[in-house]
Amino acid sequence: MTERTDDRLAHPPSDQPPSDQASPDQASPDQALTPRPARHLEAAMLAAAVAAQGNAWAPYSRFRVGAAVLAADGTIHAGCNVENATYGATVCAERNAVAAAVVNGARELLAVVVVTDADPPAMPCGVCRQVLAEFADDLPIIAVGAGGRVERTTLDHLLPRRFSGRDLPDP
Ligand code: THU
Repeated sequence: MTERTDDRLAHPPSDQPPSDQASPDQASPDQALTPRPARHLEAAMLAAAVAAQGNAWAPYSRFRVGAAVLAADGTIHAGCNVENATYGATVCAERNAVAAAVVNGARELLAVVVVTDADPPAMPCGVCRQVLAEFADDLPIIAVGAGGRVERTTLDHLLPRRFSGRDLPDP
């Protein structure tokens, strides 16, 4: 699912440490400093991620995941987890959302929303963190779990000092 919008992040990333345990109704001082998308963009991303979660193919784990990424061109791209009988061929929702963004021409991501039924909300797995990092220096991560509970963090917080293309010699 792709939805076009015309805004970028309302608040640029800051150097402040994020909060991993915040909900929107109980904002901590740390959470107030966590970069976040404009409200209407976050709502559009959440709607896209929820719709994607509804299409998750998860007959083996029954753990349904929806994700949506906001690209720098204002488009929103969604993905769901797609499991496979071999288990190992399973692809996570976040990586499918990134692939959808890239196939539509996006090269810079500004935020990601991940929706599960977990409590506390589940964060992107390590592989997905690395794949998100390919297209963002840092980005807000908004994890939504059971009952709509929200936790906010950033990629820098979840995957500090990561390997990137900058570590490679020029081809
Ligand atoms: N899963 C995701 O889609 N994203 C993650 O970040 C973690 C795990 C999926 C993969 C599998 O289909 C199910 O959740 C259980 O691991």
